[in-house]
Amino acid sequence: MNFDLKSLDLAGAAAQPGEALVVLVPSGFRPGQDAFSALIRQALKAGDLELKTGKLLALYRPAQAKAARVVLVGAGDGSPRQVRLAVNAALGTLRSGTPAVKKLLLSFAQAPQAGAVRAAVQTVADNSYVYTTTKSKAEGRSLARVTVGVPQAADCKDEFAQAAAAVAGIELAKEWANRPANHATPTDLAAAARALARHAKISCQVLGPREVAKLKMGAFMAVAQGSEQPLRFIVLHYQGAPKAQAPTVLVGKGISFDTGGISIKPAAEMDEMKFDMSGAASVLGVFRSLGELKPAINVVGLIPSCENMPDGRAVKPGDVVTSMSGQTIEVLNTDAEGRLILCDALSYAERFKPQAVVDIATLTGACVIALGAVRSGLFSPSDELAQRLHQAGEAAQDLCWRMPLDEEYAEGLKSNFADVGNVAGRAGGAITAAKFLQRFTEKFPWAHLDIAGTAWKSGASKGATGRPVGLLLEFLLGQQARGAAGKRARRKA
Ligand code: BES
Ligand code: MN
Ligand code: ZN
Repeated sequence: MNFDLKSLDLAGAAAQPGEALVVLVPSGFRPGQDAFSALIRQALKAGDLELKTGKLLALYRPAQAKAARVVLVGAGDGSPRQVRLAVNAALGTLRSGTPAVKKLLLSFAQAPQAGAVRAAVQTVADNSYVYTTTKSKAEGRSLARVTVGVPQAADCKDEFAQAAAAVAGIELAKEWANRPANHATPTDLAAAARALARHAKISCQVLGPREVAKLKMGAFMAVAQGSEQPLRFIVLHYQGAPKAQAPTVLVGKGISFDTGGISIKPAAEMDEMKFDMSGAASVLGVFRSLGELKPAINVVGLIPSCENMPDGRAVKPGDVVTSMSGQTIEVLNTDAEGRLILCDALSYAERFKPQAVVDIATLTGACVIALGAVRSGLFSPSDELAQRLHQAGEAAQDLCWRMPLDEEYAEGLKSNFADVGNVAGRAGGAITAAKFLQRFTEKFPWAHLDIAGTAWKSGASKGATGRPVGLLLEFLLGQQARGAAGKRARRKA
């Protein structure tokens, strides 16, 4: 989809011919002297338009505007959140009409708040996304071009560019997460990562079973051994800053399908376990966005990818495996496989001497119970890192919530036959999973995002959300600002 940003006041927006015009009107709206503003003033006065979020008035070829279909929509306090709700409401109305809109002008009646343009762009994209890859007669998205009109385009140029790049990343993440497991094998994911290396500053390396065995990633190999599909360990580099600058490492869980293994899952909704590589997809998405924005930072992406299958060769409950770190693990439940592939990827991350490592995983059903689909679970022993990720989530409207990591939670992971078990009891399952991972993160500041509840929607509108690409991108770009601020401070000293 194509986005552009234009300087347009209300009179200017009204003068644009086209199929559809959506006007976001916040509650503090002060109408100007032009005819279109006068129309809005009249509608407000008559009570036919309210500026409460999502309240709207749909018009057809009004004399005061050139567009065929015009939707005036209340945007409440004009905050990013209210703008998201307002745009959703307006697009819902437009979608109910025929023919489908191909070109849209989305206009802010007043100068937008920080974050509002990004919210608008991402909401339009989210709303119009259509998955087509495995349909024989695919009708793609109808909306092809969106112009965002604001009074002063120069004021939101950077925000707009970030939003457009985020959309590209979010849609790549959606695409790979949505693909069925037979169209998104570890080998396919590796090919998708290699394709990203076509962007300047991005390079990619893919390790197979032989290399992974050499690295002694015994936990990762144990999960993969029950599958006919060979494992892949994907290493992506984005180098936008001098080599000396320590990278941030993103680690994405890439289970292309999770049957549970010998501890097999029930049949109902098992199809949704094709989304168990959503963490991996979010890493691919972030790299796509970085390739577009080219910020002055260094980022490494690590994706351990395999299937979790039951088989004659599959790992069995009670088996003890040796991780890359040397710690032995009793695999008490083969369905707790995510932590087994992640722990070896976390050990691998040490070699980059990272400034921070963030892993992203559809790790536990317990996290879905704890936080639902609204906020991802955020775990980190570092207050600073946790705060930065939390803030990034708020700014990007891709929310997360910090969970505890008290040592007492690790109690249940004790094993009589290995250094650690891979599961504790049912209580606090999202936290005990994080405690397991924490054992492999002593060498760097670390955070873990459990996206089991946020990476996809179930039900009639089943599909990937592309989260948390927005959060991660915002977090990484903040890193760039910090780098620049640090440099300034050092120069002054
Ligand atoms: N991929 C699942 C987690 C999951 C479950 C994500 C439901 C989204 C919805 C993970 O591999 C898993 O099976 N976790 C187990 C852990 C348990 C065996 C300790 C779980 O959550 O049941
Ligand atoms: Mn599992
Ligand atoms: Zn899983």
